[in-house]
Amino acid sequence: MAQPTVKRAWWKESSVYQIYPASFKDSNGDGVGDIPGIISKLDYIKALGIDIIWCCPIYKSPQIDMGYDISDYKDIHAPYGTVADVEKLIEGCHSRGMKFLMDLVVNHTSDQHKWFQEAKSSKDSPYRDWYIWKKPKYDAEGKRQPPNNWGAVWGGSAWEYDEASDEYYLHIFAPEQPDLNWEHPPVRDAVHDIMRFWLDKGADGFRLDVINFISKVPGLPDAPITRKDQVYQPGDKYFACGPRLHEYLLQLGNILKQYNAFSVGEMPSVQDPKEILNAVAYDRGELNMIFNFEIVDMDIGKEGKFSRRPWTMPKLKGIVDKWQNFMIDNDGWNSLYLENHDQSRCVSRWGSDLPEFRTLAAKMFATFLVLQSGTVFVYQGQEIGMINIPISRPVTEYKDLETLNAWKELLERYPNDKERQRITHEEIQLKSRDNARTPMQWNTSKYAGFSTAEPWQRENESYHDINAESQIGVKGSVFQYWASILALRKSHKDIFIYGNFKLLDVDHEDVFAYTRTFEGKTVIIVTNFRKRPVKWSLPQKITIQQDQVLVSNYDGVSVADETASLRPFEAFAAFVN
Ligand code: NOJ
Repeated sequence: MAQPTVKRAWWKESSVYQIYPASFKDSNGDGVGDIPGIISKLDYIKALGIDIIWCCPIYKSPQIDMGYDISDYKDIHAPYGTVADVEKLIEGCHSRGMKFLMDLVVNHTSDQHKWFQEAKSSKDSPYRDWYIWKKPKYDAEGKRQPPNNWGAVWGGSAWEYDEASDEYYLHIFAPEQPDLNWEHPPVRDAVHDIMRFWLDKGADGFRLDVINFISKVPGLPDAPITRKDQVYQPGDKYFACGPRLHEYLLQLGNILKQYNAFSVGEMPSVQDPKEILNAVAYDRGELNMIFNFEIVDMDIGKEGKFSRRPWTMPKLKGIVDKWQNFMIDNDGWNSLYLENHDQSRCVSRWGSDLPEFRTLAAKMFATFLVLQSGTVFVYQGQEIGMINIPISRPVTEYKDLETLNAWKELLERYPNDKERQRITHEEIQLKSRDNARTPMQWNTSKYAGFSTAEPWQRENESYHDINAESQIGVKGSVFQYWASILALRKSHKDIFIYGNFKLLDVDHEDVFAYTRTFEGKTVIIVTNFRKRPVKWSLPQKITIQQDQVLVSNYDGVSVADETASLRPFEAFAAFVN
């Protein structure tokens, strides 16, 4: 049967590689990654089969949140390099047939940005309305309180008091990251100008940071009380996907269209695909795709990121099935990711990083992800199967403000509860953002070949066994597996990029299997998520011959009498009759 709704596009067929600049490659021996370092590794990225590089923020910034606090959108953080270096990087990408994305962080700026400095200087400043200011509230005892009960993402109130003007400003993240007021037209003009500035320099598009937070519900009402033991409450009901979001996104989309540019918006706190479709439906003219958070949030407990909630296979299946079919049926588009700079390493988080399993698990996750419908995102180090920081590293050595704030708050609230502290440390080891931010493991030399100096964040001890040099061009390596599966996706575009998706065996607790079909041709993808052997009955009428296997993380597959005997973390894809 023909697939009438298929709309082809280069951005659907692309594979994206994400770089965390501080931790990718240091070229000048100061322990911090930099742009010339990235340029020196472009051939490596190309060899993986990548079409687009997305680099996390490299702009001038006081680095309270690793560059997600920008103080000048048209200048570069000096340790990373210069604007001229970025131009060279873009050229280097283009000459290899790759595109380059900037990270656009415009829900908030740094408090060191001249706009905020001006805004804070006086209530009469022309920049005052560029941010969100409100008068204090007073409680029954006459004590000054923030204008509403919203909590900041990293703890405390989402409002910071400014003594000089007796007003608070809103910051959904850190106090050093004040939210811009998108209702004020000059703010939108300024964002459009920044976009054009980088697009004119040759950038090919943007990843847009927390872009669904830019429109807030007018009046900024108190959030419902969902965390009974806490003063401040999650306010996302009123700041995520607010009433003017699509108007603002369309304005961004119009600029992107003029440059035929790529866009992926980060959208936390929304699980309704209908809401997302308004931003990504093919003919809406807003964004190409978004990052949704359902998979990476499935093991987050009720009390926040570092509370415990084991993930379950039915949950994972439900999430994937929902997004895959919804976007295929409604002319939308998915991004596919398991890791990024805010998430830990999938092998450790959902698989096993024991030495005997981690290579298999890394390849299994690649198979699970890449053959779904959507644009693939690979996070630096994922292509060599990097793993989490070991539990032996104390939390005091972690660097990220999200982890450090959560740990501090825990120690303040439960100073004597050693058991709670132990569990929280385990959850931090499992999910902290630091896991993704250790230096890229290039080779076995000191500091993992990342730098000649002590890195800003200590390297993961695993670099002796897990590093790029020992994998490039080596048969059976995680790197080569990623390269081959990305190539496979491209060599069967109709099926893997434009085909239908069907989840198989919804109730099976260990195996995630699905088919992709295009015009009568079907591929089955089977992945065993367990570190033990699992028997799995093939769906009726499906048979698999060895010569139909397209990719496998073992040598061939073992199928007899309509039953697959899956080895630990086994994964394969095969044409079916
Ligand atoms: C999402 C980014 O991915 C994260 O790293 C950052 O801390 C927040 N947005 C705030 O910009």
